[in-house]
Amino acid sequence: MQALRIISEDHSNLWRLATTIDQVAEEIEGGAAVDAAFFNSVFDYIEQFVDRSHHPKEDDFLFRILRLRSTQAAAILDPLQADHRDGPEKLQALRACVAQAAQGQLAIPEFAAALRLYTAGLKSHIQAEEKYAMPLAREVLTAQDWREIDSAFLDNADPLFGDKAKAEFRELFHRIASLAPESIGLGGRTAGHLQANAAPAKTDVLLRVSQMESCYGRIKALKGISLEVRRGETVALVGANGAGKTTFLRTLSGVQPMSAGSIHFDGEDISRLRSDLRMRRGICQSPEGRQVFGPLSIDDNLRLGAYTQPKQQVEGDLEKVFAMFPILKEKRLLPAGTLSGGQQQMLAIGRALMGRPKMLLLDEPSMGLAPLLVEEVFNVVKTLKAQGMTILLVEQNAFAALAIADRGYVLETGQVTLTGTGQELISNEQVRAAYLGM
Ligand SMILES: Nc1ncnc2c1ncn2[C@@H]1O[C@H](COP(=O)(O)OP(=O)(O)O)[C@@H](O)[C@H]1O
Ligand SMILES: [Mg+2]
Repeated sequence: MQALRIISEDHSNLWRLATTIDQVAEEIEGGAAVDAAFFNSVFDYIEQFVDRSHHPKEDDFLFRILRLRSTQAAAILDPLQADHRDGPEKLQALRACVAQAAQGQLAIPEFAAALRLYTAGLKSHIQAEEKYAMPLAREVLTAQDWREIDSAFLDNADPLFGDKAKAEFRELFHRIASLAPESIGLGGRTAGHLQANAAPAKTDVLLRVSQMESCYGRIKALKGISLEVRRGETVALVGANGAGKTTFLRTLSGVQPMSAGSIHFDGEDISRLRSDLRMRRGICQSPEGRQVFGPLSIDDNLRLGAYTQPKQQVEGDLEKVFAMFPILKEKRLLPAGTLSGGQQQMLAIGRALMGRPKMLLLDEPSMGLAPLLVEEVFNVVKTLKAQGMTILLVEQNAFAALAIADRGYVLETGQVTLTGTGQELISNEQVRAAYLGM
């Protein structure tokens, strides 16, 4: 049933997008200008992603087989597939509204109403699929059906939903996040592009933590944590607030004392190494709450991330970070404190990248961000992963983190209680009940 997970992930992206359109509608009613470039980027994404990939996936595989297996299917699927067919036309109509509104030929209240009508339709369509079509599929499809559907959904060479198409959709999404107003997105003028390279083989163990303990006074916050990260892997560490995720990352990077256990990194025992030396070895962290230096410029914040690095490589690395986050280049001389939350998160990740990480530690990068930016941050993680970066991702947003992770660990009150592949954990009943709100 991997296909259902993929569809649900698509749905949560689209839901975030619908929420974003609603927020922009509100801003426009409040007097903001109608930015045709932003809306066109949204519609391009929907056209490419939804009409070209998401709907065909459902229509040609899931829904087709569902109709064969259940007499109830038609009543549920007919209206959904009618929506699929009408989608492109509705989008054309909305594009026309944007063009008119941008030229002052359509009154703002009417334009906002048209936007809301569209997002309401999108949301109720998603809800109907989640509430009726997917449960029916879970109930009536056979194991053989799932094998067929899943293998189509997971075919990375497929021109419509394989890796190449995904990279294209990510690029389109990145454009939206960049063009969205600053209160909601990154608010940059240039979208730039995120490059994706082929990932290397995931074989050898880069990090091995054994029985790590750490205390605050007499309270043991970590009670013997053992965990492994292989080279090129993305590992998610998920758990509720207070579980010890931040303490784990801080102990790993050496800013919090370890009272028992050992840490081996890249073939070396670093258990007693100072934090700056661990950074030199390639353990670089984007901390919880970003912690950028507000009065310093963006440029200087990034340079700080490279303080353990040889001077001659810094300018080149800065340009690489700017290519990834063009908004930071546009604002490079401004104090970091003037950046929005999403921009500061990009800065925190960029600063960690300046240390040339062999392993990147991310502590709740999506925390407190607008929905569009939550997606954008996870897209950045996906891109880094595709480039072969080894990533330890700490998140309360368990579903999103596990969805992109190769493997995951569930942390509860300082102990690892579950481990498995990202997919295994997402489908685990305990995890679903405790963290995914399902
Ligand atoms: N500076 C501190 N002093 C005392 N206790 C702390 C401190 N930081 C965290 N703790 C405690 O350690 C536990 C783990 O916290 P933390 O690592 O921040 O969890 P998480 O990042 O998973 O939310 C919690 O019970 C928290 O109250
Ligand atoms: Mg934390």
